[in-house]
Amino acid sequence: MTHILAIANQKGGVGKTTTALNLAASLAHSGKRVALVDMDPQGNATTGSGIDKQTLQHSSLDLLLDRADFASTVLHCKAGKYDLLPTNGTLTTAEVALLKTPMREQRLRHALLPAATNYDYILIDCPPSLSILSINALAAATGVIIPVQCEFFSLEGISALVATIEKVARMANPKLRIEGILQTMYDPRSTLTMDVEAELKNHFGQQVFQTAIPRNVRLAEAPSHGLPALTYDKHSRGAIAYRGLAGELVRRHQHKPNNPQKPKEQP
Ligand SMILES: Nc1ncnc2c1ncn2[C@@H]1O[C@H](COP(=O)(O)OP(=O)(O)OP(=O)(O)O)[C@@H](O)[C@H]1O
Ligand SMILES: [Mg+2]
Repeated sequence: MTHILAIANQKGGVGKTTTALNLAASLAHSGKRVALVDMDPQGNATTGSGIDKQTLQHSSLDLLLDRADFASTVLHCKAGKYDLLPTNGTLTTAEVALLKTPMREQRLRHALLPAATNYDYILIDCPPSLSILSINALAAATGVIIPVQCEFFSLEGISALVATIEKVARMANPKLRIEGILQTMYDPRSTLTMDVEAELKNHFGQQVFQTAIPRNVRLAEAPSHGLPALTYDKHSRGAIAYRGLAGELVRRHQHKPNNPQKPKEQP
């Protein structure tokens, strides 16, 4: 089974792209076949994969608009050992371009279908909005990873995201589940982090990943070199944490391959 995981949170700067890049590389380095889809017009996952987003032949916009297929859009990232469906700023035009397109929220799902069985994991880096781009990611996904920065206000907005996930599950994708809540920029010395963690565990219980990603400067530096942290500095705490997350995910899927956890009541 291919696990298609949308990495989503409409709040900006919470670690979605950092998670997409480093989880993709960690899964790939553990022997999994991985593709990463950049669905954010900022193109940070593309740049962070060492690809120049200004010179793309095809992008995920072409996939959505059926102007190119998966095979002609996909690139390989040597350092990360994963495949990338890149993007750039032209993806901002998707909203308008898809306006009159039938089944417009199912475009990504259909574009991924022919290639999905070539991969164990397809990760989708979502933009910081609940736009048609995120809806396409949710409609294509089997699970959602929600990165949450352990700070004040971080729980705000999660209920809107959970409601959107439930709506997409009802209307378009009954298999969709919350795969897990991921604490990012985690600092166990901060009482605020501890308070947010307690609240997350209270609302989401076992859905909170045991692995938390610490604040680590190597994670912020690596993308400017077009590298995942595990090749930039494999002994860094950030790289080790993302390898731990990949291990936790794979173990979960080995135990219950077709049965990720159902969303609990929203907070
Ligand atoms: N664990 C971490 N430790 C230190 N810096 C981090 C960590 N995670 C992310 N960052 C940095 O924080 C900033 C935001 O991270 P990132 O780009 O991954 O968030 P995002 O949710 O994808 O943002 P956007 O919503 O704009 O797409 C980046 O500069 C990134 O390098
Ligand atoms: Mg991002």
